Amino acid sequence: AFVALLSGCSFNQAPDQDKVSSPPPEQKGKNALPIPPLLEDKNPADDVAEFYLKAQKSTKSFLDGVETESYGYNGDYLGPVIQVQKGEQVKVHIKNELGDEETTVHWHGLEVPGSADGGPHNAIKPNEIFSPSFTITQPAATLWYHPHPLHKTGEQVYKGLAGLFYIEDEVSNRLNIPKSYGENDFPIVIQDRNLREDGQLSYDLNMMSLMHGMHGDTPLVNGVFDPYLEVPQGKVRLRLLNGSNARIFQLKLSKDNHFWQIASDGGFLEKPVKMDQIVLGPAERAEMIVDFSQYKQGDKVQLFDQDVRLMNFIIGTPEKEKFEIPDQLTTIEKINPPSGTVTRTFAFQGMGNSVNINGKQMDMNRIDEEVQLNATEIWEITNIDNGMMGGMGMPHPFHPHGVQFQILERNGKEPPENEQGWKDTILLMPGDKVKTIATFKKDGVFMYHCHILEHEDAGMMGQFEVN
Ligand code: C2O
Ligand code: CU
Ligand code: CU
Repeated sequence: AFVALLSGCSFNQAPDQDKVSSPPPEQKGKNALPIPPLLEDKNPADDVAEFYLKAQKSTKSFLDGVETESYGYNGDYLGPVIQVQKGEQVKVHIKNELGDEETTVHWHGLEVPGSADGGPHNAIKPNEIFSPSFTITQPAATLWYHPHPLHKTGEQVYKGLAGLFYIEDEVSNRLNIPKSYGENDFPIVIQDRNLREDGQLSYDLNMMSLMHGMHGDTPLVNGVFDPYLEVPQGKVRLRLLNGSNARIFQLKLSKDNHFWQIASDGGFLEKPVKMDQIVLGPAERAEMIVDFSQYKQGDKVQLFDQDVRLMNFIIGTPEKEKFEIPDQLTTIEKINPPSGTVTRTFAFQGMGNSVNINGKQMDMNRIDEEVQLNATEIWEITNIDNGMMGGMGMPHPFHPHGVQFQILERNGKEPPENEQGWKDTILLMPGDKVKTIATFKKDGVFMYHCHILEHEDAGMMGQFEVN
């Protein structure tokens, strides 16, 4: 059922197929993978980082000879990578230059107070500046940032607003793994988009895209169709983000190559997990080490989503340093449910405009769950629609703000090895039930929602308050 569901929305039968034209074959493998700049820290103090972000309108050429209207942070599409150290005090000045619409910037996966979280409450009006500040209190991880205005998240992300947010710490600095940004440690943001026949990004919701979320027939990596990347002949680290609005990716490498997954959403796994493929739902991340040392210079290895090629690695000169696949990456203390732990249940259900959680749709004026500061709680999430009884059987990736959780059970069993670390988003296929546990260390009002952005915008979202 799982594979059938994935292929139900494959690139070949994108729900909006009739309205779009796929890139012509001559555009394949032609463009280098862009590596976004690392955002400059403007504060000279050692333990303070200060950044400037601008959400702006622009144009970008996704296909030869066509300028497409787009959004970006400090640029034409996507945004710079923000890199901070654990313990640092961070301040970000965000200016809204989108012209006539509100936006917010949400730090997906970051444990910060609700007042700095960038949810719908932190709306930035046109031409205004919002300057949240927070301290980094969690371990090394690959997180991301994106807008979160009420009912408009899907459209703003779709047009290009998103970027990666790296936390480094004593563990990531010590491990003998690739960590030279853009040389052997690469940001890989995977998305799908519809480029209409006039080359523009269409965000017109129809029955299909409202139901299943916006899918496109053009896969992009860091904003480019089928790019190539020259990699050292050795070990390479890929920081993967599924930045799609709705598409689930099933990623694998050509030539029977495999990955070692070293990190999930919230940081390093205890041990690397060797995998032939990985399924990433919207908003999920995975850090991978790939070993290209068995290939000759000039060889090609490709990254696929099922049978669709996403990008090409071209083997270059031998690596300068020797890296390991460490036996042990870090230690993760398992959260044990104290006796009398509060358990909450969340049922994801409904279709189209009526998608909801526990029968309720998002209301900014209603707090759905009250959580005590520093409490440890078990949250049980169920995707009610199992595709039977006339249901559509839709996946729903669950994501709570302001907290990283651990998975106690997936469908009554211990989760797979690569889901035994820190997570902030978890994919629930139709009928799935997961039991998560978390300690709520930051106060304020936070969202929890489905990360299919069209479901979120339609109301599959609730609020919890920690105090
Ligand atoms: Cu990626 Cu509400 O977040
Ligand atoms: Cu989030
Ligand atoms: Cu959903």
